Amino acid sequence: AIERTFSIIKPDATRRNLTGAINAKIEGAGLRIVGQKRVKWAKADAEAFYAVHKERPFFNDLVAFMISGPVVVQVLEGENAVARYREVMGATNPANAAAGTIRKEFAESIEANSVHGSDSPENAKIEIAQVFKPDEIVG
Ligand code: CMP
Repeated sequence: AIERTFSIIKPDATRRNLTGAINAKIEGAGLRIVGQKRVKWAKADAEAFYAVHKERPFFNDLVAFMISGPVVVQVLEGENAVARYREVMGATNPANAAAGTIRKEFAESIEANSVHGSDSPENAKIEIAQVFKPDEIVG
């Protein structure tokens, strides 16, 4: 079915001017960018977004990283968009990511891994609603 997923192009990627290269991979995979904005998150934004990881040992570093520069937040639409984008991103740890994936080609480390994508359709809805107003998404 046609569905939507939430994506973040992370600070390691915006810093290296990789937004276009990442968007080319997204669009090349048949996903449509139906919402997109470049923003600088405050600490509270990053903490709220990653609240599910609050108890993890990497949480504080992750929050610091996510506010270290601009991010590009996106809504992607397409056939099985959640699973499709996870294929395009590759494994969380770039060392384990398959050839041709965004993280294999661009990620610097398991933390500075260039992109985030929702892990389920349910979480995609929650994440999109956290970051986008309805009229900022144009399908
Ligand atoms: P993301 O898909 O955005 O979800 C949580 C993020 O935490 C992850 O990508 C990485 O940027 C970061 N992270 C840092 N260390 C780890 C780890 N050991 N396991 C999973 N995620 C990690």
